[in-house]
Amino acid sequence: MDDLRDKYISAISGAADEAALEDLRVQAVGKKGEVSLKMRELGKMTPEERQVAGPALNALKDEINSALSAKKAALADAALNERLKTEWLDVSLPARERRVGTIHPVSQVSEEVTAIFADMGFAVAEGPQIESDWYNFDALNIPGHHPARAEMDTFYTHRAEGDNRPPHVLRTHTSPVQIRSMEAQGAPIRVICPGRVYRADYDQTHTPMFHQVEGLAIDTDISMANLKWVLEEFCRAFFEVDGVELRFRASHFPFTEPSAEVDIRCSWEGGTLKLGEGDDWLEILGSGMVHPKVLEAGGIDPAKYQGFAFGMGIDRIAMLKYGIPDLRAFFDSDLRWLRHYGFAALDQPSLQGGLSR
Ligand code: PHE
Repeated sequence: MDDLRDKYISAISGAADEAALEDLRVQAVGKKGEVSLKMRELGKMTPEERQVAGPALNALKDEINSALSAKKAALADAALNERLKTEWLDVSLPARERRVGTIHPVSQVSEEVTAIFADMGFAVAEGPQIESDWYNFDALNIPGHHPARAEMDTFYTHRAEGDNRPPHVLRTHTSPVQIRSMEAQGAPIRVICPGRVYRADYDQTHTPMFHQVEGLAIDTDISMANLKWVLEEFCRAFFEVDGVELRFRASHFPFTEPSAEVDIRCSWEGGTLKLGEGDDWLEILGSGMVHPKVLEAGGIDPAKYQGFAFGMGIDRIAMLKYGIPDLRAFFDSDLRWLRHYGFAALDQPSLQGGLSR
């Protein structure tokens, strides 16, 4: 019996896998196993012999069975450890980047502009891109013979043969939304109007479609000083440069009186653009006090109300802020350009989160 024990206990502890273990079980305690056969011999023994051999055989059988199940559990543990080793994962590694597209700089900047003006109490207003010549020109004090109509390189739509009404235009600026806002809500007003505008022009700084944001504030006590403060406040927040310096240059627009164009101080030293320093000036917007005739066209009494208005190039300020040299690339839909200049889709600009990160 000691031989049997030695044989099986050491074979079990050396078994390589579950199949080997099952073979050993059959050999030792299976129906025709060595221990089972020995138990059958008990019948041929004398009662005295049986009293000694019986319990000893039973104990051996138990011992082998528990060695079998202990080894089985140990094998299962080892297999699990082996598997866990291959499935190991470092959860502290950075996440794998998955591109879900990028936000176009024009969208990003429109959001930034909207966030800043919203903080100053401006609501967003919109108007159609195909506009009547009344909203685009006449209501803005640009009559039919006015040279500004030609200057703006307007795109006209077709009228049917025999239809003598003036053609609609692709709006040449966002200023018609001034009139639409006055009609829609009357005074007082505080709105910005971002959107697409169209002019027949094409070179490094001009594309036939581009983006503007119009600003309009009307109340009983609005002055040029308010205009200046709002624009300076905007530029400081937008360009995220403390020393931003603006220059108001007398100008002329039919729909504002007085009128001013606004330039921003910059330097081109070493071929890179820096804002707030240097001796160069870059024009970023047109502005002025809303012309009384324009207020009248919008149904607002110019004897009681005044206001300021401005129109700013969104693409232009996007180029300035993010150092993008060629406007035409904005609208080429070149994926490499978009990936380079685009913004992460989940990184939306907000005043509390930071406008551009
Ligand atoms: N509409 C003008 C332009 O497109 C800009 C402007 C808007 C100027 C409002 C004055 C007031 O050039």
